[in-house]
Amino acid sequence: MRANDPEDVVAGSAHEDAHLAADTATPETLPYDPGGDVEEAVAVDVAEVRPELADPTTVDAIVAPSRDVHVAEGEPLLSMRDVTMQFGGLTALDHVTFDIRRGEILGLIGPNGAGKTTAFNAMTGVYRPTSGTVLFDGEVIGKAARNEITRRGIARTFQNIRLFGEMTALENVVVGTDARHRTSVPGAVFRTRRHRAEERDAIDRGMALLEFVGIGARATERARNLPYGDQRRLEIARALATEPKLLCLDEPAAGFNPAEKESLMGLIRHIRDDGYTVLLIEHDMRLVRGVTDRIVVLEFGRKIADGTPEEVTSDPAVVAAYLGVPDDAAVPDLPEIGGPTTGAAPTTGGTR
Ligand SMILES: Nc1ncnc2c1ncn2[C@@H]1O[C@H](COP(=O)(O)OP(=O)(O)OP(=O)(O)O)[C@@H](O)[C@H]1O
Ligand SMILES: [Mg+2]
Repeated sequence: MRANDPEDVVAGSAHEDAHLAADTATPETLPYDPGGDVEEAVAVDVAEVRPELADPTTVDAIVAPSRDVHVAEGEPLLSMRDVTMQFGGLTALDHVTFDIRRGEILGLIGPNGAGKTTAFNAMTGVYRPTSGTVLFDGEVIGKAARNEITRRGIARTFQNIRLFGEMTALENVVVGTDARHRTSVPGAVFRTRRHRAEERDAIDRGMALLEFVGIGARATERARNLPYGDQRRLEIARALATEPKLLCLDEPAAGFNPAEKESLMGLIRHIRDDGYTVLLIEHDMRLVRGVTDRIVVLEFGRKIADGTPEEVTSDPAVVAAYLGVPDDAAVPDLPEIGGPTTGAAPTTGGTR
């Protein structure tokens, strides 16, 4: 297992594994098994271990991206230009064009099979589009190795949770920060001063990230033993560890109850307010409407709407796509449709 492959861990469905087959080296899939060999969990008193993290503004400052921003907020960070993606005879994306602007939360929504995850995979270099272009920060993204995508500044979480199950929560995040390190291999082998300093920084930042997503007390628990909701939060922390310019979340609230969803949306807003740009795939229209700045709607691989939450939710084509009713039918409140494809939180068996 390579040290920087979060994909090598906690479970995944056959469907998503098929999506990732081209990109995954040797996936080690560990079933989530809370009933098995669970060690006594020791809650970490973060305020004692790292007193400075008792102050949320310090946590925010540590987690915030440290890079210089040369381009104004609101400029396109990622542009999908006329992207078509075909799998054999199936057109999963059909001439799709949209931008993700710096500093925004963009919602990507649509019924099951609409092409949302495929759009993610095209913009994160898992797939090379059949035609069209993806521009990220001014550069064309083709099919690229994961570490190359991370280096460019894109991080993602998966529709099915992927973590290092046997590592602690803190280790999972620290491994994520490795992508930012500059120590050479000999530097790491001989544990140079710089390497040791980077290690210390990574642990400090890792603790701050866990605290930021709300699971600091679980720093020393193995990922596989964490409750489902905490695993989802841990995945977000480890994605943020790479200090991405763009954070892509694929149905992060799948399997959550309404209260958990609300709380997660609060976290996503907090992430944006801390200086990150976020792309959010989510089924629950009400939820997306509450948290996003703009929404792109896909249906059968085509973009059918693109605008503010108000514009999109009052768009007759969107209403029809979501409810399967005539375009002119007035619908006051759009319900969740399709449901999360990842199913409910696991109690036994595989983690989704
Ligand atoms: N690697 C692949 N090979 C073949 N078909 C694929 C592949 N990836 C996606 N598809 C197909 O492309 C279409 C879009 O799938 P995609 O997973 O992007 O939809 P989605 O909007 O993410 O749906 P969901 O809400 O179910 O996650 C589906 O018909 C799917 O079966
Ligand atoms: Mg999907």
